[in-house]
Amino acid sequence: MIRVFTLMVASVLIVSCGKSDNLRLGDNDTSVTHSASSPNGNVKVTLNTDELGRPVYTVAVDGETVITNSALGFDLEGEPDLSAGFVVANSEVTTFDQTWEQPWGEERFIKNAYTQLRMGFVEAEGLKREMNITFRVFDDGVGFRYELPKQANLNKVVIADELTEFSFAADHSAWWTPGMAGNQYEYLYQNSSLSDMPRAHTPVTMQTSNGKFMVLHEAALHDYSTMNVELKQVNTGAPVLTSTLVPISKDTSVKAKLSTPFITPWRTLQVANNEIDLITSYLTLNLNEPNVLGDVSWVRPGKYVGIWWELHLEKSSWASGEKHGATTENTKKYIDFAAKHGLDGVLVEGWNVSWDGEWWNMGGHEFKFDQPYPDFDVEALSKYAAEKGVYIIGHHETGADTDNYESQLDAAFDFLNKYGMKAVKTGYVESGELLANGDYHHGQNYVAHVDKVTRIAAEHKVMVVAHETIKDTGERRTYPNLVSREVARGQEYDAWSEDGGNPPSHTAIIPFTRMLTGPMDFTPGAFELTLPTRPNNQVNTTLAKQLALYVVIYSPVQMASDLPEHYEQKLDAFQFIKDVAVDWETTKPLAGEIGEFVTIARKERGGHNWFVGSLTNEKPRTVEIDLSFLDENKKYIATIYRDGADAHYATNPASYEIERKTVTRQNVLTINLAAGGGAAISLKLID
Ligand code: NOJ
Ligand code: CA
Repeated sequence: MIRVFTLMVASVLIVSCGKSDNLRLGDNDTSVTHSASSPNGNVKVTLNTDELGRPVYTVAVDGETVITNSALGFDLEGEPDLSAGFVVANSEVTTFDQTWEQPWGEERFIKNAYTQLRMGFVEAEGLKREMNITFRVFDDGVGFRYELPKQANLNKVVIADELTEFSFAADHSAWWTPGMAGNQYEYLYQNSSLSDMPRAHTPVTMQTSNGKFMVLHEAALHDYSTMNVELKQVNTGAPVLTSTLVPISKDTSVKAKLSTPFITPWRTLQVANNEIDLITSYLTLNLNEPNVLGDVSWVRPGKYVGIWWELHLEKSSWASGEKHGATTENTKKYIDFAAKHGLDGVLVEGWNVSWDGEWWNMGGHEFKFDQPYPDFDVEALSKYAAEKGVYIIGHHETGADTDNYESQLDAAFDFLNKYGMKAVKTGYVESGELLANGDYHHGQNYVAHVDKVTRIAAEHKVMVVAHETIKDTGERRTYPNLVSREVARGQEYDAWSEDGGNPPSHTAIIPFTRMLTGPMDFTPGAFELTLPTRPNNQVNTTLAKQLALYVVIYSPVQMASDLPEHYEQKLDAFQFIKDVAVDWETTKPLAGEIGEFVTIARKERGGHNWFVGSLTNEKPRTVEIDLSFLDENKKYIATIYRDGADAHYATNPASYEIERKTVTRQNVLTINLAAGGGAAISLKLID
């Protein structure tokens, strides 16, 4: 059960009914409240109309304007745009302060405190249509959304474009991945000035010239298309970005089809004085609705192994035949290994008929979700797993044929239930940015599809780990069974990517970009880092860095991705994967710099032990880890898994050392990280 701790819900309501009838365009009724500040006063928003009657907003942080007058509105198809000619009809300021508990997560208790400014706009002439805009102003940023009430002159709404502008005060340095570029979200992050950034997915992380940080993203994306951002113009060095929504399908430029009343997702700007504070900003989660599933005690964080990496290494195949990976015998081997080492699940890919041939080029039409290959005895395996206290994780690769998948959803989830599969990994591999039915991978229909799958999974009490899905905008608060996603380049790229895989900097960038949006199924845990069956590739980290990833890259379901035989050869290092928690009481980022290095400490949920992960890009460095986060007057056994003195990600990745010592909160550990290296530390309380 989720407990909600209402520390204070002070709702100071100021309702000012504006004199909108007497106003001319460009006038702003001063009797109406046009601004709101965050609880600590550091973030301030204003909302007005300009001389054309366009709603415009500004954002200031610590007294400095970071977003200058930026327009809001919509281009509509088949009727006049909702973008100008407005006057303010009313405004309302309320405050909210509540602490809520995550059923699982990187932080148990989350403070949700904001000042809300909700302003009603009405067209002064003509159709007199109404549009409300709500801003929530938090100490760590702002979120705002449009609310279109039910009204006589606005019923069916076809959004041609959303006109939200983000007019930045300066040309910041930005980390981004390209939008609508053909490979979903699976890109390496690039760094450029905002004015040189092409159409980009969010999140976009920015660094100002005076060392502050901002993140542009969205929250609570439902029944609407994904927002990309794009440069509109540069005003004397200051770039104006605009939201550009992904079209619904290849046959239309329409971005969303809706009926009033409706609300849009929140557009968010998170702010922080340094980059590590971004990691503990929970603004997007706060902007999502609370859990609608009720008792989610069946959603259990855990660790899993699987018939997966061997497929990517081409040691076995998804397809049937001699090399088939998902055989009864092979699955038993993984179940045995999981049971022996206390892991929870075994993922099996390639278990269902329809993988024969170049499945990634076949459009997904043939995938069946309740028909195992004959050499995968699901009946026997589910019993075998249950006897050993392990569950099989189902796999639904759709090949991006969402229609085919939807037509089988009930059967697919009934099948999972029948065989005790508590979790499913979904996948939407396609070539290009289109689903099999011609819809865009990030458009309104696909967003609705992902929601539908999540809801049906919840009805069946199944956890979902989604690959090639929609970017995370915090929906796990509402649907806690949506436990993890891919939505970035994961470790699989190291097995086969023609560019040589993820460079060491990748995992030093994503904690400040992709990971700000939610958990990632990165699939760490490679112990054989040179890949004999993939001679052109290797995993571009040291072994100790693989261990660090379990703490740095948060996910409530973590894979131990390598083959059992590789772990059996290095059980001393595997001990960290066995020990590390996957559900956390609290998260404390200790140090970091985007693209350079990061060190994060987390305390296990419901326990006393802490775990630390520290990793670097291709540069070796020494990190000082101050243990003052530990409890006072307590002693801990620190087990430090670090790079060997001669370790190097390219030439000697498997060199590691394990050191054990007793520590207290007075200690500072000095640890050398090799090039592309890392360190993982478990800190176990001595009773
Ligand atoms: C892409 C996924 O990211 C990967 O994990 C999976 O093995 C393949 N698709 C096959 O479904
Ligand atoms: Ca993928």
